[in-house]
Amino acid sequence: MPQVEEVTETKVHKLETAKEVRVGIVGYGTVGRATAEILAHNTDEIRRRTDGVSIRLTRACRRTLHSSDRLPGSAVLVSDWREVVDAEDVDIVVETIGGTDVAYDVVRASIENGKPVVTANKALVAQYGEELFALADARGVPIGLEATVGGGVPVIRAIAEALAADRIHAVYGIVNGTANFILTRMEHHGVQFEEALRQAQAAGYAEADPSLDIDGLDARDKIAILARLAFNASLAPSQIPVTGIRHIGATDFHYARRLNSTIRLVASAERNPQGISVSVEPWLVEHDSMLAKVDGPNNAIFVAGEKVGTQMLYGHGAGGGATGTAVLSDVVQIARHLARGQRVPNGLPGFHRPEKVALTDRAHPVSWYLRLTVRDHPGILARVAEVIAREGINIDSVIQEPHMQKERLSFVITLEPVGESVVRRAVAAIDQFEFMREKVLLVPIRSC
Ligand SMILES: NC(=O)c1ccc[n+]([C@@H]2O[C@H](COP(=O)([O-])OP(=O)(O)OC[C@H]3O[C@@H](n4cnc5c(N)ncnc54)[C@H](OP(=O)(O)O)[C@@H]3O)[C@@H](O)[C@H]2O)c1
Repeated sequence: MPQVEEVTETKVHKLETAKEVRVGIVGYGTVGRATAEILAHNTDEIRRRTDGVSIRLTRACRRTLHSSDRLPGSAVLVSDWREVVDAEDVDIVVETIGGTDVAYDVVRASIENGKPVVTANKALVAQYGEELFALADARGVPIGLEATVGGGVPVIRAIAEALAADRIHAVYGIVNGTANFILTRMEHHGVQFEEALRQAQAAGYAEADPSLDIDGLDARDKIAILARLAFNASLAPSQIPVTGIRHIGATDFHYARRLNSTIRLVASAERNPQGISVSVEPWLVEHDSMLAKVDGPNNAIFVAGEKVGTQMLYGHGAGGGATGTAVLSDVVQIARHLARGQRVPNGLPGFHRPEKVALTDRAHPVSWYLRLTVRDHPGILARVAEVIAREGINIDSVIQEPHMQKERLSFVITLEPVGESVVRRAVAAIDQFEFMREKVLLVPIRSC
C-alpha cells in the first residue's frame, strides 16, 4: 500500500492549530462554480461532519476574468492556473477545466508540488490515470475522482471501498444522461433521433458538438474507470468497442415496444474465465427491467458481486450541484486527513499497480435484435434467412409493420442466443446484399 506521509508546516499552513484547509479551484465553469457555492453554503454543515475542520476557498481560476465575477468570502479569481497550483494559500487543488491538455498539466503540477488534487475529469483519468496515480503514489499525494463517474452518484467509493471485500463480476449501467435523455424522448414522444437531440440541446443537456455523448465516448471513459476499479485491470479507453445511438430511429422504439422492450445505451464490464469483456452499446431491455425505468438525464449503475448480489446506484449523473457535491466529498475526505497532519494516497485498485487483464468478447451467447432497412422486392426474407441459417443461428421472430414504403422498408428479425462473432459474420454478409438501404442495426437483447 502507498505510504501515509506526514505533512510539513510549509505545505499546509497552521493545520494543527487552525484546522483550516484551503482549496483552490482551477476551472470556474458549471462544476467549479457549483463546487464553490456548495462549499460556501454548507461551511457549517461540513465543519460539523469533519469534527471541526474548516474548508475554505481561497483561489479560483478561469481563462477570462469578468468584472461581474463574484467569489465567496475573500477568495481571489485569477486567470493563470499556476497562481492556484503554486500558491502558498492552497492546500488542495480542484481541477474542473475538462479536456486532457491543460488539465493534465494542472493535475501533474499539483502532484509534483505535493498537493492533493481532486478532479471531475473522466477523460483525463481514463487516459492518464495510471500515470498520474503512479506519480501521486510516489509523492504520497491522494487524487480524488468521485465526480468522474455518475455525477452525484457515489459509485467510485461504492466499488473501491464499500464493496472492497467482495469479488465483483459485473459493472454495467447508464452513465451518460444526455444519451439517456435522447433515448427516453424518442421512446415516450415518438420523435426521431435528430429532434430528440435538438430537445436535449434546448434543455441544456447536450453540447453544440454532442458527439462525446451520442457516440458513446463519454460513457467509454467512464466504464474504463469503473472496470479498472472493479477488476484491478489496466485498461485504455481505446481498447473498448463503442457503438453510439446515432443510428437508432423512431422505428426501433416502435418495434421494441412490440417486443415489450425499449432501448438504452449501456456501458458494461463483465468478468469471465478468460478475462473481461467491456463495451458501450445500445441494449434492448424489457419494459419491466430496472434499466428501462431509468428516464431522462438520470444515471443508474449496477454492481454485481459474488456475495452482495446486484446493487443499483441511481441518481443525477451530471449538473453542477450533483457533480460539485461529489467533488467536495473528496475534498472533505482529504481535508480530514490533512487536519490530522497526514496525506493519504488512495491506493485505488485499477490505478495503483493494476494488472494486465485479457479483453475478450462477451462470454455468454445472447439474443439479438436486427433491424434491416431495404428496398423491397420478393425473396428478400429467404435470402436473409439463408445467411442466418448458414451460421447455424435460429430465428426467434420476424416482425414487419404493414403498409410501409416499398422504397425504404424496415423490418426486424430477432435471433435466439448466439455468440457475438457468429452474429457479426452473418450481419456482414447481409450488409453486402444489393437491396440493403443502410447497414443492419444490431442490438443485443439483455434481460437484467
Ligand atoms: N457539467 C457537468 O455536468 C459535469 C458532470 C460531471 C463531470 N464534469 C466534468 O467536469 C469538468 C468541467 O466541466 P464543466 O461542465 O464545469 O465545464 P465548463 O462549464 O466548460 O467550465 C470549464 C472552466 O474551465 C475554465 N478553463 C478552461 N481552460 C482553462 C485554462 N486553460 N485555464 C484556466 N481555466 C480554464 C473555463 O474558463 P472560462 O470560464 O473563462 O471559459 C471554465 O471556467 C469536465 O472534466 C467535465 O467532464 C462535468
